[in-house]
Formats: sequence, structure tokens, C-alpha cells
Amino acid sequence: MSSLVWLVTGCSPGGFGEYFVQSILARGDKVIATARSVEKIKHFEQAGAAILQLDITDTQQSIKDTVARAIEIYGQIDVLVNNAAYIAIGTWEDLEPEDFQAQFDTNVFGTLRITRALLPHFRTRRAGTNVFIGSLSGWIGHPGCGAYAGSKHALEGMVESLYHETSHLGIQTLLIEPGRFRTLLLSSQNMRAAPTKVAENAEFNKARLDGLATENQRQPGDPGKLSEIVVDLVRREGVAKGREVPFRLPLGIDCFNDVQAKCEETLKLLEDWKDVIRGTDYS
Ligand SMILES: NC(=O)c1ccc[n+]([C@@H]2O[C@H](COP(=O)([O-])OP(=O)(O)OC[C@H]3O[C@@H](n4cnc5c(N)ncnc54)[C@H](OP(=O)(O)O)[C@@H]3O)[C@@H](O)[C@H]2O)c1
Repeated sequence: MSSLVWLVTGCSPGGFGEYFVQSILARGDKVIATARSVEKIKHFEQAGAAILQLDITDTQQSIKDTVARAIEIYGQIDVLVNNAAYIAIGTWEDLEPEDFQAQFDTNVFGTLRITRALLPHFRTRRAGTNVFIGSLSGWIGHPGCGAYAGSKHALEGMVESLYHETSHLGIQTLLIEPGRFRTLLLSSQNMRAAPTKVAENAEFNKARLDGLATENQRQPGDPGKLSEIVVDLVRREGVAKGREVPFRLPLGIDCFNDVQAKCEETLKLLEDWKDVIRGTDYS
């Protein structure tokens, strides 16, 4: 495959974004690394990347302008990696509706804005790949994680529709669903945890936050392995060589086990309640 030009969102050090930039450059491709603060990604310029400031919560027009500037850098973009997101932690009552909205504004609507800004470029060229970083939380709503799980579930449905809407235009869509990987997602600077407002939740919230603090930087998943797999899938090489690349791919042992259990549970539910589920048509 000839050299590709990638645009990656959320490339601050320590997260998947940084690993994507490294894997892309190592394959000889070009990358436009973006971040809310370009100061954090200046070092990528020495490594051969182009850098741009991009906050995915900016207005649609401002993001369109940034994408137009990005296209000018190498004359085209072949791959968009929708990586930027954060996790809000808190129960339904402890998080305010505004916290849910902010979570969706970044993880869902931010992703929507940047993808919509690039779609005309891909459509006109009848080529391009949209990569989305979903989550195991797009399969399962863990307690205290409703806003994040909601945003990742929303992404699942929206991205599946996009896949069906754009395949015939020569546009590829790839939805990656990581389990627990060692990035800064659960760090105190990136995770947004709501204080407990409801006394009955206090014990649960403390246990949840203690658990996440213990998990932070002990997650089993290696982000470098994930970024290599994603580059393989897009470039149809390495693990993807000679295989049909799926639209959706969970990654991580935890994700494999939990998704398998959810599928089995769902199949059992369909079987156990088959008569009721199938009994709703007009007689
Ligand atoms: N790590 C995991 O276990 C895991 C599991 C499933 C899914 N994921 C997903 O993987 C993706 C990357 O997360 P990560 O694990 O690498 O976490 P991370 O280390 O916290 O990185 C998240 C990145 O998103 C950026 N970001 C947040 N809000 C942004 C905005 N409004 N505009 C632009 N950039 C923004 C952050 O930039 P700043 O430095 O500016 O804050 C940071 O670079 C996310 O979609 C996440 O949901 C991660």
C-alpha cells in the first residue's frame, strides 16, 4: 500500500493518540497530530509529524476551517482517527444533566463534528477511512459510568449507520472497542469524577473511585499493541493481511470475555422469552 496521510485527534502524551502517531510514522505514513494544546505535542514535529491545535468541542465552522488547513498540509487526508474523549464518573443522581451533556458534547458530538468536516473530502475522492475509538463501555453500562457508557453506546449506533451510509462511496469505517488499556484515561487530571451528593451513594462512590485509582496505570492492555493493530487494519497488513477487515473489533482479553458473556446472555434472553418477544404482531 502506498503512503497514507492520517489525522489523529487527542494526541497528548500518555494516551492512545501518542501511540497512534508513533505507529503511523514507523510505517512510513504521514500524520497530522492534533491536540487541544499544541504545546503538549510540539515534540512530534521533530519526529516528522505535522501538528495542529484542535478542540473537538469547537464549533462546526471552526472545525471545518481546521480540517481545511489540515488538508492543505499534505494535499489530502486518507485516514481520520477519532480518538479524543474523556470519562465522567458518577451515578445518575451525582452527575448533573450538564455533566451528561458535556460528556456527550466531547465523546459524541465532537466526534460527529470532526467526521462531518472530513466526509465531503472522502466522498469527493471516493476514498478514506474513518476510525472510531469506541469502548467496552459501548457494550456494557458499568455502575457509576452511565454518562461515558451512554456516549460510547451512542457512538456504536451512529457509527454503524455511517458505515452503511458510506461503504458504497468507497469510504471505510472501523470501530475499535478497547477493554482496559494503560493510558491517562483514569488519571486524576483526565478523569472527571463528580462528588457524592446522595448519602446512599457515598459508600459505592468511594469504592468505585478507590477501585479506579488502583486500576490507573495497572490496566492490562498495552496501548502500543492496540495502535499497531489499528494501523495494520487500515493498511491491510500485519494481523490484517489476507483477512477480511471487520467493521467492529473489540480488543483486549477483558473485552473478549465481557462481550462474549453479553452475547450469550442476550441469546439466552431471546430464547427464554421467545414466545413473548415474537408474540406482539396483530393476530
Ligand atoms: N484507555 C482505555 O482503557 C480505554 C478503553 C476504551 C476506550 N478508550 C478510548 O480511547 C480514546 C483515547 O483515550 P485514552 O485512553 O488514550 O485516554 P487519555 O490518555 O485520557 O487521552 C484522551 C485524549 O483525548 C483528548 N481530549 C479530551 N477532550 C478533548 C477535546 N475536547 N478536544 C480534543 N482532545 C480532547 C485529551 O487531550 P488533553 O490532553 O487536552 O486533555 C487526550 O489527549 C478515548 O476515545 C477513550 O474513550 C480508552
